[in-house]
Amino acid sequence: MQVVYHDVIIVGAGLAGLRAAVELSGKHDVAVLSKLHPLRSHSGAAQGGISAALGNAEKDSSEWHAYDTIKGSDYLADQYAVEVMCNDAPRAIIELEHLGVPFSRFEDGHIAQRPFGGHTKNFGEAPVRRTCYAADRTGHVCLHTLYEQAVKDKVFFYDEYQVLDLCMADGAVNGVVAIELKTGRFLLFHARAVMFATGGYGKAWKTTSNAFANTGDGLGIVLNNGIPLQDMEFVQFHPTGLYPLGILITEAARGEGGVLRNADGERFMERYAPTIKDLAPRDIVSRSIYDELKEGRGAGPMKDHVLLDLTALSREAIAEKLPEIESFSRIYLGIDPSVTPIPVSPTCHYAMGGIPTDVNGRVLIDAQGKELPGFWAAGEVACVSVHGANRLGSNSLLDLIVFGRRAGKDINRFLDRVLLKPRPLDTGALEKVSRKIEGLLGRKEGETVAAVRTDLQKVMMDKVSVFRNEHGLAAAVEELAVLQGRAAGIRVKDQSKVFNTEILEALELQHMVNYSKAVALCALKRQESRGAHSRDDYPLRDDENHLKHSLFFLKENGEAVYEQKPVDLSLASTRPEFVPKERKY
Ligand code: SIN
Repeated sequence: MQVVYHDVIIVGAGLAGLRAAVELSGKHDVAVLSKLHPLRSHSGAAQGGISAALGNAEKDSSEWHAYDTIKGSDYLADQYAVEVMCNDAPRAIIELEHLGVPFSRFEDGHIAQRPFGGHTKNFGEAPVRRTCYAADRTGHVCLHTLYEQAVKDKVFFYDEYQVLDLCMADGAVNGVVAIELKTGRFLLFHARAVMFATGGYGKAWKTTSNAFANTGDGLGIVLNNGIPLQDMEFVQFHPTGLYPLGILITEAARGEGGVLRNADGERFMERYAPTIKDLAPRDIVSRSIYDELKEGRGAGPMKDHVLLDLTALSREAIAEKLPEIESFSRIYLGIDPSVTPIPVSPTCHYAMGGIPTDVNGRVLIDAQGKELPGFWAAGEVACVSVHGANRLGSNSLLDLIVFGRRAGKDINRFLDRVLLKPRPLDTGALEKVSRKIEGLLGRKEGETVAAVRTDLQKVMMDKVSVFRNEHGLAAAVEELAVLQGRAAGIRVKDQSKVFNTEILEALELQHMVNYSKAVALCALKRQESRGAHSRDDYPLRDDENHLKHSLFFLKENGEAVYEQKPVDLSLASTRPEFVPKERKY
């Protein structure tokens, strides 16, 4: 067993992890561990843009941005955190520009901005052009730029290292156990600060825009260590996944003038959101699509999708602003979107819930906000909470950049002032992990990962997706308990040490069933409809009983514990616009 020391270990090389690493580099010795090559991180899949009230296209304000984010969240977002994010957004964009992000430009040279769902001017009056972009490859260019900066700044990268557990001493986090995929050897990474930026968890659903790597490993690891997850019931389905594959078709397609049509050719969003139509927030558009399908107005022989019509855009405009969409449509479906509408249906896209943190990325382990020393989280794995019950498009890249930087700054402060020496390393986590892997390798009988994962994805897709009810959720909770047992009894056929991805998939599967249980149980407990959580049996929002965050803990004996904690309504206490009210668009 080898022990490696760095002042800071960041797990995950997407935008949140890289932004924190850039902040720390030069000041402290920082290493980034990733199960992928950093440039394969899922931040690179974000297409349409990053929001900030720069006002390059028309008048805009950070206060309107905060209002839209809070209203979009169905009032579950913590209002102070939203204000922090939206106020910091213009600075964050200019910083990215200076680091080298090649944003698209207006004729006058300013960074170009486009409309995106739920972003409005003057507290909901009409759509506003707030989303900065680089064609439809915004996440891709941000990821490349920050990786270049991190390499230039001499951040250590451990590519293709899978983190398996946290190390703790005296009630604080002080390292991680990881496996080097190339050799199968275990390493103990000893550190004074550990940050998780491990991304989202859409792979538990059958249809998803998420990459294969998005198996919620960070969430599974924290649950195993008694740390809670927050607001797990809120899972966003993006309205326009390429049918039937679920690959993301950016919201920018609608921002640039595309419209959704049913089989009758009707622009149906005019009925559901008369003011902002196709640019309503994603929860509303996804539900509207499913309502159209339920009413028999779906397209195709199965009537199971709708059409994204870009034919009003010229071929040149599509090539310039939406080149990825043009190429996905051509490669996967053989169609030219300037001539033929694109078949789309909702696809599991984004997790609003995650590891509870404060605005500096410090991990909070109870409803009273107690911190876990030595541990930070940022990005999709974290729940600050700035997205509440539903995230607005293009607020995700912003969240990664703003809170990745803030976590980096906070770790710098912590390392400078609080702790001079690393706490001694406890090897207990390594022993636990090696026993688990030996158990997997030694098993002579058991199911394959694929069999259990397929059943998990079906349960989540059928019973824990856009529309939910007591009957389905209760059944899902029971089925997930069975799936937990099945996942623990997997048989791994590949016994080699070199690139044994079967072991990895078995471990990922165990994380997937654990966090899925959190999603299903919190969804069952939340007897109301709010944002992305829509209950047929409780169709209305219930602020009296449920204007609260959910917390989910997993005890050592596997028992699930559910608690609630208050939402921060600090802006609402001084400004009437921010008081929870009916959410009409
Ligand atoms: C999109 O371009 O629609 C996805 C980006 C996001 O989820 O914010």
